[in-house]
Amino acid sequence: MNILIIGGNGFVGQSLIKELTKCKIEVSYLSRTQNHSISKDEATWIQGDIFDLNNIMIKESYDIVIHLIGTIKNKNLYSKLNIESVAQSIKLCHKHDINRLVYFSANGGFKRYIESKRNGERLVKDSKLDYLIVRPGLMYGKDRLTSYFNVLPIKFFSKLGITFFKKVYPLPVEKVAESVVKAILDNTDSTIIEIIDMK
Ligand SMILES: NC(=O)c1ccc[n+]([C@@H]2O[C@H](COP(=O)([O-])OP(=O)(O)OC[C@H]3O[C@@H](n4cnc5c(N)ncnc54)[C@H](OP(=O)(O)O)[C@@H]3O)[C@@H](O)[C@H]2O)c1
Repeated sequence: MNILIIGGNGFVGQSLIKELTKCKIEVSYLSRTQNHSISKDEATWIQGDIFDLNNIMIKESYDIVIHLIGTIKNKNLYSKLNIESVAQSIKLCHKHDINRLVYFSANGGFKRYIESKRNGERLVKDSKLDYLIVRPGLMYGKDRLTSYFNVLPIKFFSKLGITFFKKVYPLPVEKVAESVVKAILDNTDSTIIEIIDMK
């Protein structure tokens, strides 16, 4: 199996690459800059901007694309990064005959953010590709130390039953990566992975 991760140089990408290589799956990742902590043995880097499809050099054939581009921080880029980039990844799949798309959405967060993620999901559902939508809450791990700051408060407010916090229930990024890779290998019929499936 050969997998291409769009935006795979970031926080979730690094964890997914580790999990996929553990399972002997070949991986490439596409991003504008290289992450030098990902070795060439783990994954092949493809330099590219998803908004410049004509200049993306795809030399191998891939079975699955995993889409990881997205933002929660920059409200001005919600439309571009959480919606338009998804449309670009879908185009890339069609152009290179890749039939399966795994899309990292989100389970909760501020209204405009979650609306943009749901719009991204709609594009995926309408793409005619075989798809899997992942809806994580907050993910934390050592490659992003700041991700630990909110873990305890969110868990505390979740236990109090406050919906907003329950929806972003924190999980270690490795656990999310493990669940997603398992779903890929099991060729699951499910089209959505929720927090409860990854706990
Ligand atoms: N982290 C969380 O707790 C969390 C929670 C829920 C959902 N999510 C979702 O999960 C996904 C992955 O999150 P993450 O934290 O791993 O994000 P991340 O660390 O920001 O990684 C995404 C990567 O995408 C690349 N990218 C951005 N624009 C690009 C473009 N035009 N062309 C090619 N690559 C581009 C960036 O690298 P370059 O700048 O080098 O191109 C970046 O490193 C996102 O969609 C996010 O919304 C994350």
